[in-house]
Amino acid sequence: MAKLWGGRFTGGPAAALEALNASIGFDWRLAPYDLKASKAHARVLNRAGLLTADELTQMLSALDSLGEDVANGTFTGTIADEDVHTALERGLVERLGDLGGKLRAGRSRNDQIATDLRLYCRDHARGLAADVTALVDALAGQAAALVDAPAPGMTHLQHAQPVTLGHQLLAHAQGLLRDLDRLRDWDKRAAVSPLGAGALSGSSLPLDPVAVAEELGFDAPVANSMDGVSDRDFAAELLFVCSMIGVHLSRLGEEVILWSSQEFGWVTLDDAFSTGSSIMPQKKNPDVAELARGKSGRLVGNLTALLVTLKGLPFTYNKDLQEDKEPVFDSLDNLALLLPAVTGMVETMTFNVEVPRASAPKGFSLATEIADWLVRKGIPFRSAHEIAGACVAHCEARGIELHEIADEDFASISAHLDPSVKAVLDVDGALAGRTTPGSTGPKAVADQLAQVRDQIASW
Ligand code: ARG
Repeated sequence: MAKLWGGRFTGGPAAALEALNASIGFDWRLAPYDLKASKAHARVLNRAGLLTADELTQMLSALDSLGEDVANGTFTGTIADEDVHTALERGLVERLGDLGGKLRAGRSRNDQIATDLRLYCRDHARGLAADVTALVDALAGQAAALVDAPAPGMTHLQHAQPVTLGHQLLAHAQGLLRDLDRLRDWDKRAAVSPLGAGALSGSSLPLDPVAVAEELGFDAPVANSMDGVSDRDFAAELLFVCSMIGVHLSRLGEEVILWSSQEFGWVTLDDAFSTGSSIMPQKKNPDVAELARGKSGRLVGNLTALLVTLKGLPFTYNKDLQEDKEPVFDSLDNLALLLPAVTGMVETMTFNVEVPRASAPKGFSLATEIADWLVRKGIPFRSAHEIAGACVAHCEARGIELHEIADEDFASISAHLDPSVKAVLDVDGALAGRTTPGSTGPKAVADQLAQVRDQIASW
């Protein structure tokens, strides 16, 4: 079949134009959504008196049989079809003859593509949310066994203060929970139907965009037909959420890479989620964690690509908008690959809890405890900080840890100190003392864990 726009042209398109112009190579996956929207449109044409009841029945059954052939691969688009909409109209005309040509009334590829992409995005965002939820669940599962397992908490990748491993894992879960919230919030804005906007101005035919919106699961039709065919905020916003998820995964990936290194030795990755080397027989590499870190690059790139495409576009539809689909598909595809692997890696990794426990007090990470002990005795924090710093200097000069300071040396460091300060120089004690909501103490972490589990149960 010829192009949908052949009427005013005398010759066919140049091969170079055809190759450039075609989106069929990447938009074919929209076919089920296009068919769903076509069925809704057919019903509206019938109610508008533009398709008889008999024609509607034939149209719907042809659309269904076309859908089956698309699903089983016996009907596919070709480059000459240009795009998914053209290919499906060809399929319909092959089945129905002239009747197939009636479906295009009141509809344009401009409102069709905007509708198809919204349907695709909303559908796949639900799968994305399920994958993110599974990862949060895996993090919570590990955290449950580690609510009181000490580790050095770090700033600047230097020992700062002891934390519990459960707390640190839930810190990763918190970012992902915000991403879930973002997806839910995004859907409210994505849930409007462009169908009925036509090419840009609506239609002179008595269509029913409200009924179409409802049939397709949208909350309402778009408020403005010009906006409806040219708005891709929903795609950009989804790509932002994908990027944010990617950035969260990259930070988790980086920590797992560090933790599984020889130097840290905090976790052992399961063989099923590790890879080997072609030359070094001993190697066990954290490829999943590295791809979690690496894929954030393309996710951010896809967001950037779409934003730059949209910038400065005049209203309404421009062919530039065809560039919206590949970044969206790529981001969703890659997260669909990545998230289950990261979840599996997290679920199966084993924490060697004695290693971070032993290193938790190292690097004078309990120095703040000395300062807080002094504050409880009424010393201003400014002076307390100085005195605790002097304790660190004392230890550094002697190559000892804070708890190894000799009883008789405390008074010489500061008159405010005495050996009873040693009671706070204990990791478990320091952790247990952190009881305020959101802090790292085992009790507070158990409360946080319960909240995280409630949040994912409500999804
Ligand atoms: N393949 C096109 C796209 O993806 C469909 C819309 C074409 N509209 C047009 N006026 N040429 O954007």
